[in-house]
Amino acid sequence: MSTPGRYTITAALPYTNGPIHIGHLAGVYVPADIYSRYLRMIGKDVAFICGSDEHGAAIPMRARKEGVSPQVIIDKYHAIIKKSFADFGILFDNYSRTSAPVHHETASEFFRKLYDDGKFIEETSEQLYDAEADQFLADRFVVGTCPKCGHEEAYGDQCEKCGSSLNATELINPTSTISGAKPTLKQTKHWYLPLDQYEDFLREWVLKGHKKDWKTNVYGQIKSWVDDGLRPRAVTRDLDWGIPVPVEGAEGKVLYVWFDAPIGYISSTKEWATREGKDWEPYWKDKNTKLIHFIGKDNIVFHCIIFPSMLKAEGSYILPENVPANEFLNLEGNKLSTSKNWAVWLHEYLEEFPDKQDVLRYVLTANAPETKDNDFTWKDFQDRNNSELVGNFGNFVNRVVVLTNKYYDGIVPTPNAFSELDLQTLAELKAYPAVISSSIERYRFREAGQELMNISRLGNKYLQDEEPWKLVKTNEERVKTIMYVALQITAALAIVSEPFLPFTSEKLKNMLGTNGKELKIDWNEISTKEVLLPAGHQVKKSQLLFSKIEDADVQKQLDKLEATKKANEAENKIVEPQKETATFDDFTKLDMRIGTIVSAEKMTKTKKLLILKVDTGINTRTIVSGIAEHFTPEEVIGKKVTVLVNLAPRALRGVESEGMILMTETPDGKLVFLNPDTDGVNPGAVIS
Ligand code: MF3
Ligand code: ZN
Repeated sequence: MSTPGRYTITAALPYTNGPIHIGHLAGVYVPADIYSRYLRMIGKDVAFICGSDEHGAAIPMRARKEGVSPQVIIDKYHAIIKKSFADFGILFDNYSRTSAPVHHETASEFFRKLYDDGKFIEETSEQLYDAEADQFLADRFVVGTCPKCGHEEAYGDQCEKCGSSLNATELINPTSTISGAKPTLKQTKHWYLPLDQYEDFLREWVLKGHKKDWKTNVYGQIKSWVDDGLRPRAVTRDLDWGIPVPVEGAEGKVLYVWFDAPIGYISSTKEWATREGKDWEPYWKDKNTKLIHFIGKDNIVFHCIIFPSMLKAEGSYILPENVPANEFLNLEGNKLSTSKNWAVWLHEYLEEFPDKQDVLRYVLTANAPETKDNDFTWKDFQDRNNSELVGNFGNFVNRVVVLTNKYYDGIVPTPNAFSELDLQTLAELKAYPAVISSSIERYRFREAGQELMNISRLGNKYLQDEEPWKLVKTNEERVKTIMYVALQITAALAIVSEPFLPFTSEKLKNMLGTNGKELKIDWNEISTKEVLLPAGHQVKKSQLLFSKIEDADVQKQLDKLEATKKANEAENKIVEPQKETATFDDFTKLDMRIGTIVSAEKMTKTKKLLILKVDTGINTRTIVSGIAEHFTPEEVIGKKVTVLVNLAPRALRGVESEGMILMTETPDGKLVFLNPDTDGVNPGAVIS
């Protein structure tokens, strides 16, 4: 029997509550696309599946914010996302959406099968309810304090601080995110998947079966979940946006988004198969098919615990072979955020850098957050483009093609006897495809991308050592052999770059004439074929593959981010309402002076307090101030400040404080002294 050649590759279905940004690309779509393109190239039967995730709480929430209907939101973002993926060269075999009829049918049938087989627990219990909004609160509709770690902004389904999965009723001090109201409890019926009954299965399957080749972050998360003990998980919700629960007595209830969304992979496969005249079932049910899920780390539990348990419960499906989840990408040192607009948006990038898809693909691969969170910076983007793509890859190809045209009118010359270095270089070249295959097959795309660059490094070094441009004056015959060898390297680059840099590969193949009927090279042939570009083959003129990115281009992007930061700060400014009217007499009672801090020390056994000596012009007095978490004593000595000097003295931890230093606060909670332009003003000067 031949080796199993069928792969179902899924990429997490993006929520249609915003466009795609570089974090999504680096974590999920670029690696998944490299992997799929590679497998297709080596002749595997691949279904690369994705689509929009259009249900769940996030959509109606976004709709409410924009003042439109949920349908408007999903149509808008589905269109933006789908187009930007296509323009970026993410080559899905199918990109569907979970609002499609085929998905509603597939998800309903799936639920119905589990229901009929008695796989669910039906239970009526008290759930959080927002009486003002007349809505039950779960998932993102409720925030409160995490019972596990104390984080105050945990959601009803998950705490993003400690990663725990939660039930909304476990939150301490829950608040509705719809109305801000304190929820009450109200009875409601739901269906639960008893995950506790799948613990043995999960242990057997992942912890025993796969532990060797799964990523440690993925394996570790699964293990800790299973070790903690799993609980039944509700798979329905009281919500008016989603797939109606297809059983009697479930009016007003929909499937939980994390129940329906992964089934979206199956629906999308069906849609594709119908269009292509294929049978979808082997892609999900033949045990020789390899199912691989590409996701970000926040999706691990859903793809490694819940969805596999659903598939197991259904009974006729295969389980994932691997789930190579990535960590997160940050942008210029801060967490990417759709709501804070802290992102490089794909559709905007494509407008601003048309024809630079491969640069972003390359940088995101070189910097992929495979084993830890990583940072994207525009400076690094520029550097990698200018030195690696322009300086290494582009430069090598350009030299070879330009010289071939110059010396031989673009015709591959007939080589003479190979030197030791020629043979060694050709042998090294032949070894690359296996090395790169091995990295890709182990999901090490960074490593694979660097090996690709090593091929052009090999080429550059060879040219540098041989200097055909000098030798051509004295030994034309030798130069033919050199150019012949260099052309073989160029041809290999055209092929091997395809999964990583598809636009560049296409251009290069056109330049070399290796993509048509006359000459087509396979990945495997690089190692096995005697010759890739035979003598006598005609290549075209050189076209530049990459161009330099200037400082001004980078500055423009940094300015844009700076503007976002400013806008966020302005939005965060909560302006307190004006206080009750004070009479003029009230005001003149307050004696405020300019003072200078002459000494400062931390009060022992306290976190917040500094004991200051302040020269008020009247005298030098002690003032205890709660600023120790913001300033060190050294920082404040010598500072001119505004002091309320006639505040009734009071003792703080036994130290008498005679006055108060006036302060204000930045939107992110940093304290600032009130010392306006007081150059030339002496201590004791009255504020009036
Ligand atoms: N929309 C989810 C997210 O962005 C991912 C869904 S993946 C699927 O986190 F499995 F549910 F499809
Ligand atoms: Zn927590």
